Amino acid sequence: MPTAHASRRSPDVLVVGGGIIGLVTAWRAAQRGLSTTVLDPEPGAGAARVAAGMLAAVTELHHGEQTLLGLNLASARRYPDFAAELTEATGHDLGYRRCGTLAVALDADDRAHLRELHALQQRSGLDAQWLSGRECRRLEPMLAPGVRGGLRVDGDHQIDPRRLAAALVTACERAGVEVRRTWAERLTVAGERATGVVTADGTGLGAGQVVLAGGSLSGRLAGVPADALPPVRPVKGQVVRLAMPDRFGPFLSRTVRAVVRGSHVYLVPRENGELVIGATSEEQGWDTTVTAGGVYELLRDAHALVPGITELPFTETRAGLRPGSPDNAPLLGPSALAGLVLATGHHRNGVLLTPVTGDVLAEFLTTGDLPAEARPFTPRRFTATTTARTEQPA
Ligand code: GLY
Repeated sequence: MPTAHASRRSPDVLVVGGGIIGLVTAWRAAQRGLSTTVLDPEPGAGAARVAAGMLAAVTELHHGEQTLLGLNLASARRYPDFAAELTEATGHDLGYRRCGTLAVALDADDRAHLRELHALQQRSGLDAQWLSGRECRRLEPMLAPGVRGGLRVDGDHQIDPRRLAAALVTACERAGVEVRRTWAERLTVAGERATGVVTADGTGLGAGQVVLAGGSLSGRLAGVPADALPPVRPVKGQVVRLAMPDRFGPFLSRTVRAVVRGSHVYLVPRENGELVIGATSEEQGWDTTVTAGGVYELLRDAHALVPGITELPFTETRAGLRPGSPDNAPLLGPSALAGLVLATGHHRNGVLLTPVTGDVLAEFLTTGDLPAEARPFTPRRFTATTTARTEQPA
């Protein structure tokens, strides 16, 4: 996209937010020849520091989210090449593990819920196999004896989001992205167009295009006109980490998950011996306190699933904020303000959607065209009928 209006020293693209979404956007933009700057006081931190890293397009399918499923599957298909390219570019091991997932039921209600999910998966043409309780335990011997049945999904994998984020920081730096460790205080606008930002220390930075990729904070950047501000809210998730020392032998060979008394719980075993147990989903505003109740519920439900977890060393608890959107789907592409592009609102799917987000944003930033797979996720779906300035959604 042309940058004639920007000063000689202004980058083509200024990315506000250096979480995995901002970083992948910057990396892909730089690879396309755009001069790119990322602003973040702590690049590579954010929600990726908390996330378990499930790539769960099939097991996290929900009724009414078939459009999102298409984008999730498109990103899942890109993961093998994306991970290989990122490792090649940086030398980082991403903890990408093609291990599959087993979703199990502990009682008759859970079983009915899982049967419904299976029916929806089958209607959507997805690969998921129903197993008896005994077959589940044959696959994962640490499962509770009471498991009543489950769904084997060999296509839902995992990656370590902390390693992914660190690799993306390195990839950006190697691709020539300028990573500035500061926060954007305010968007600058002139003549109905975003022109850059003012940073926390009062420095003004111009840019050809500004990408707002601030995760749950994306709706709080000052200076963004109301009709361009993304309707993103924080959705708190608490997570517990345990260790699986070698002396315990193989503990779990794949991600195991369930809905226990209406709450989702998942156990993600990493090759490095870490076991991540998540996650709560709480509407608590900006609170990131780890609570006794949150940890208790996670351990209680995980214990119901895999009783042996009580023997494992406890290593960490943490809470993060998912960027939730009104329809649980991301906002990708041009906002109602020219020059301001959004890459936010990924909610429960930020890690999964990282590859496709980088690709579609880089395409838009380079050509001005949003690829077909991203068009249902235009931010304009939330503003199209509310302002005269907004064009029709693509
Ligand atoms: N995708 C898992 C979570 O958001 O908890």
